[in-house]
Amino acid sequence: MSFDLVLFGGTGDLTWRKLMPALFQAFRHGKLPPGGRILAVARDDRSDSDYRAFIRDRFFEVDSSKRPSDTEFAQFAELLHYRRMDLSKPDDYLGLKEWIDERNADTAVLYLATAPHLFTVICEQLGAAGLNGPHIRVVLEKPLGNDLASAQEINRVVRAVFDEKQAFRIDHYLGKPSVQNLMALRFGNALFEPLWRRESIANIQITLAESIGVGTRGDFYDRTGTLRDMVQNHALQLLTMIAMEPPSTNDADASRDEKLKVLRSLKPFTPESVARDVVRGQYRAGSIGGQQVPGYLEEQKVPAGSHTETFVALRTEVQNWRWAGVPFYIRTGKRLAAPHAQIVVNFRPVPHPIFSGPNRANQLIIKLQPEDGLELQLQAAKGGLATGGMNESLSPVSLDLDFEKAFPSERVGAYERLLLDAIAGRLNLFVRSDEQEQAWRWVGPILDAWASDSEGPRQYAAGSWGPAAASALVARDGFAWAEEE
Ligand code: BG6
Repeated sequence: MSFDLVLFGGTGDLTWRKLMPALFQAFRHGKLPPGGRILAVARDDRSDSDYRAFIRDRFFEVDSSKRPSDTEFAQFAELLHYRRMDLSKPDDYLGLKEWIDERNADTAVLYLATAPHLFTVICEQLGAAGLNGPHIRVVLEKPLGNDLASAQEINRVVRAVFDEKQAFRIDHYLGKPSVQNLMALRFGNALFEPLWRRESIANIQITLAESIGVGTRGDFYDRTGTLRDMVQNHALQLLTMIAMEPPSTNDADASRDEKLKVLRSLKPFTPESVARDVVRGQYRAGSIGGQQVPGYLEEQKVPAGSHTETFVALRTEVQNWRWAGVPFYIRTGKRLAAPHAQIVVNFRPVPHPIFSGPNRANQLIIKLQPEDGLELQLQAAKGGLATGGMNESLSPVSLDLDFEKAFPSERVGAYERLLLDAIAGRLNLFVRSDEQEQAWRWVGPILDAWASDSEGPRQYAAGSWGPAAASALVARDGFAWAEEE
């Protein structure tokens, strides 16, 4: 299948940091369909060879395992082409159309790796130039809007030009192998389904912790904040995958329908419940891994006195028969103690304990990052004379599964997977407009409540697990975050 992949924002950060390394990996793994071209467009004038040299140099800034050798780059570079384009000029889109039509590939994937405020202009111009035929797909990077109204406006324009099936909205978390494994765990195994409900599960905790700060992205981050950057998209997508009903088929819309139902069942926030159930924090200076790091307000391009949150913890419920009353906690932030992303499913303890000692419950830990695996904590008797026979208390043991070891050569990075899926037209791992809008609708009351709250976020020391209020949020229900147990 021949393809053209057009990268709008062809010299931007996203292109060289994420997309090119991912495309190169796909190429190295022999997964990129033959007969492809990667057509980069951006504002400045460059020849193909200048552009190739630019990309080659940028590879020195990415992870060394993802860097091509000279020979590999020379082969990969043959796919790369460059053209200057002014995104506000209709003629430049006609030029792009000619460039694409000259080859008439089976599919053309138009990846908008630009600043989001350009999305509507680009889509309108693509439509006007006739670059919206059935073989065209458009890929939209987050952030898709900064509230419900702006997301709806983007979707209105996208839908006026493209069919929903042509629109590939990226949430790169959906491309992570561990997240796809969540689907496999739930719907490819009969073991867990009977237990996957309120009768057996006490609470669910989603933690997306980063130890990095906002780095050089202070201006972007300050306009965005953690709720928009991580909760509205990544954390809610994970929540839907945990809570959704089994889809009837593996078609994209079958699971997207189920995910949407979960988003619609989330308990709506009120000003009172935001005050009670949502904790926003901002890091101050602290130390991570023995290194002193500055506070958020000392970061480059962050305005003095900013109230932007770098941490969110919240409690919600999925209001349906399966989950009624089960707390779902989400916690995510920058400059936290460790870079780890995981989902912890805390089962209920046995109803009638017969062993001495604490009545510990089973725990399933779905590890997303940095490890990629599953850990199932069970209670076991150590046995043996030394441990006091039948009166002994039980000890926790875990069944540990490391997917990277189990499938060493088959792990595919998130962007690699998503780019290949966009080229192949597989929509399963992309977000539909109604899901995305519903997620904005749900976070809206939190944004509104914060906008009228002059107190601002709670401070937490860099290197901690966030403000103490995040622990209190969970402790109120009689639970604790996994690392506090
Ligand atoms: C991005 C956010 O969507 O996800 C970043 O904009 C965040 O702020 C990143 O650092 C986290 O992604 P990952 O794959 O590194 O966990």
